[in-house]
Amino acid sequence: MSTQSPSPNRDKVTVRTLLRKKRRGEPITMLTAYDYPSALAVDRAGVDVILVGDSLGMVVLGYDTTLPVTMDDMLHHAKAVARGARRALLVGDMPFLSYQVSDAEAVRNAGRFLQEAGMDAVKLEGGRERLSTIQAVVRAGIPVMGHLGLTPQRVHQLGGFRAQATTAQAAARLLDDALRLQDAGIFALVLEAVPDEVAQAVTERLDIPTIGIGAGPHCDGQVLVFHDLLGLYDRFTPRFVKQYAQLHRVIHDALRGYVDDVTARRFPAPEHGRPMKPEQAAAFRQWLQAFDAQRGGGTGSAAAGEAPHGP
Ligand code: KIV
Repeated sequence: MSTQSPSPNRDKVTVRTLLRKKRRGEPITMLTAYDYPSALAVDRAGVDVILVGDSLGMVVLGYDTTLPVTMDDMLHHAKAVARGARRALLVGDMPFLSYQVSDAEAVRNAGRFLQEAGMDAVKLEGGRERLSTIQAVVRAGIPVMGHLGLTPQRVHQLGGFRAQATTAQAAARLLDDALRLQDAGIFALVLEAVPDEVAQAVTERLDIPTIGIGAGPHCDGQVLVFHDLLGLYDRFTPRFVKQYAQLHRVIHDALRGYVDDVTARRFPAPEHGRPMKPEQAAAFRQWLQAFDAQRGGGTGSAAAGEAPHGP
């Protein structure tokens, strides 16, 4: 057995990198990715954290909510992301019912993200009701990211995808939840769709980084959904999203161009062809003449004799 340790990737972002960034006041960048090409692009852009979010249920699989997403779905996409990313910290999002039933099931499912899919950490939604689960997963050696505010797996209980912690009482409860999650061992906390003041109050009182989505500018980092940022998901775009491109239009125009070109016989053009070498083309033409003559002779079958010789 080799005694040499594998060469470390010195650029690799770890949970310690994020803590250091918080202490230094350096903003943390996080984006979702769901497959090999999106992971490659996000990683190459220098994003610190890639979340394989269960939002893939909506933006990739076309469901109305994240609830139908399964562990198998998540692992399938997480494996592809791990093949595309080199530097970013990789976080697998635990889907609905993969951690709510029992702490033992939560540990096993969280472990599968690391063992089978190459993730570095997991994320799960919820506050005080999830403390024992988080403690169990952390005890197993698995870094956990928390998620408070709008927690989409509770969409039916919340009465829709709506802002949270908008009253003083709800804001105080969210801050209390955040402190409890930190004590339970999470290394970072996503705050989704909460007022700026609430996110700021939480960020200032936690030692671990907060990552905001629709939570204003005071969080330690920001996260967006890949398809929202690029304008790839045109069914619905939350108000807090900044679209950096409108790729669904670009893609539509490109696809229409293809349909038009094929229909008008403009594609493939000569430059896309792959002609034979002239001597092979001549030999083939000669063989075809014999073939056609034999068929015309009334056999009705393709038995034209031996094919022309050549490599
Ligand atoms: O699933 C997801 O993409 C998320 C982000 C919105 C934080 O949970």
